[in-house]
Amino acid sequence: MRDEIKRFADLDELSRAVAEDIYNEIKDSIGRKGNFTIALSGGHTPSKLYHILATDYRDLIRWDQVHIFFGDERYVPHTDTQSNFKMTEESLLDLIPIPFKNVHPIATDHPDPEKAAIEYEGELKKMFNGPDSFDVVLLGMGKEGHTASLFPNSPALDEKRRWVLPVNAPVTPSRRITLTYNIFNRSAATFLLVAGEDKCETIGNVILVDADYHTFPIKGIMPTTGRLVWYLDAAAASKIL
Ligand code: 6PG
Repeated sequence: MRDEIKRFADLDELSRAVAEDIYNEIKDSIGRKGNFTIALSGGHTPSKLYHILATDYRDLIRWDQVHIFFGDERYVPHTDTQSNFKMTEESLLDLIPIPFKNVHPIATDHPDPEKAAIEYEGELKKMFNGPDSFDVVLLGMGKEGHTASLFPNSPALDEKRRWVLPVNAPVTPSRRITLTYNIFNRSAATFLLVAGEDKCETIGNVILVDADYHTFPIKGIMPTTGRLVWYLDAAAASKIL
């Protein structure tokens, strides 16, 4: 199985391990091709990781050769407390010397989210013109198995062509922009970060059972050639390890 499962005592230990693994991926990518591209996850789980990268690793990383994208975004102003960009700004971007041009937020100020999705896809296609996409994709998982803003039974799950779609999520804020499996699954490495007791049931279903991606969208994250690594804390892994 190309998938790897790493288990940690708690979110702090998990975050430190992911930070070290990302740092190694950054060094390797920059050494090989002079840049590193990453799609960040939203939600709460990754904020500790982002802060570790912005502090412990701040002066070790060549931020001028790192490009930061977003796996999804809530369709709210970037100043809104629900914005993934705002969370990332506070925990990472405001603390590191990364050039403005290297940060690629999803615009949320177009009256029509469809326009924002088309624009972002254009930006991604400028960066990725071959068979591969990101060096690293970071993703979380909701307790019902969604990832990014790919929710159960969404039409976005069966999109075969587009890389970015506007969606209506069954949670607030409902309007969102999400990247699709078409670009996620072309990444070189995908790191799935899941922590907390409230996710252990779904982790059990997703990892132990041959669950369907319409029911558990995170199951649709199947990198074509890249690595997939689960980072679980003990609470989330309690049913499987
Ligand atoms: C978002 C995220 C989403 C998140 C999961 C887990 O925009 O909310 O992209 O997919 O990763 O909902 O969220 P928590 O880390 O807050 O549990």
